[in-house]
Amino acid sequence: MKKKLVILSGAGVSAESGVQTFRGGNGLWDGHKVEDVASPRGWNMNQQLVLDFYNKRRAELLTVEPNDAHKIIAELEKDFDVHIITQNVDDLHERAGSTNVLHLHGELLKARSTVKEDYVIDWFGDMTEDDIDDEGDQLRPHIVWFGEDVPLMNAATRTIKTADIVIIIGTSMQVYPAANLVFHTHAPDIYYVDPDPAKVDDIELNYIKASATKGMKQLKKLLMKKRVND
Ligand code: OAD
Repeated sequence: MKKKLVILSGAGVSAESGVQTFRGGNGLWDGHKVEDVASPRGWNMNQQLVLDFYNKRRAELLTVEPNDAHKIIAELEKDFDVHIITQNVDDLHERAGSTNVLHLHGELLKARSTVKEDYVIDWFGDMTEDDIDDEGDQLRPHIVWFGEDVPLMNAATRTIKTADIVIIIGTSMQVYPAANLVFHTHAPDIYYVDPDPAKVDDIELNYIKASATKGMKQLKKLLMKKRVND
């Protein structure tokens, strides 16, 4: 049986594709307060601003490509039972070929109803205040905003509980509840790939201080020695 490999990814895995991370010099929020564009309050105050913000992000996403880190992670499915839990709202893991991706914070290329939470549809173009669901209620970006519940948190917790190996990659571990997931694993091997990793107390991590692409190349060699069926 293949070992269960759970990957917790954040904005850093997509940085080398040209997607800006959130925290750091050129953070995505530049020019906007987080609460203005990523909270229910911001939405209630100025829907056009929020729609414009995500329309821009969506258009940018359609111009970038998966990088070698996404591709190596996708290739690992040959040797491991891979489960990706990502905080990213981009689709770069899927485009690289990963088949099992849980988007904790939603997906940029989807829209959801403001009334029926489970009405979620693909959305590739700009969204306007006039876009509606099948019952005439307004659509919004399918993003989990600050202050909102994270509906897939229980599923993610169940997934990581039974991991044999965990990789944390490209996340500052600043945003909760996502940052708590790692405390639910019993995996003996936990790797953290990040050029500037956060300090995580009370848990033993194997730090790989490198960019996502370099770090995953290095880590793939280590992982190959840990396959069951070699
Ligand atoms: P952050 O922007 O907080 O952190 C990005 C991490 O990526 C940092 O630890 C960087 O050191 C690292 N990094 C930068 N360049 C890298 C590279 N080339 N390779 C690998 N790592 C690199 O992003 P997240 O932790 O993902 O939520 O942020 C979590 C959440 O905060 C996001 O999902 C978003 C945001 O608010 C929502 O939109 C709800």
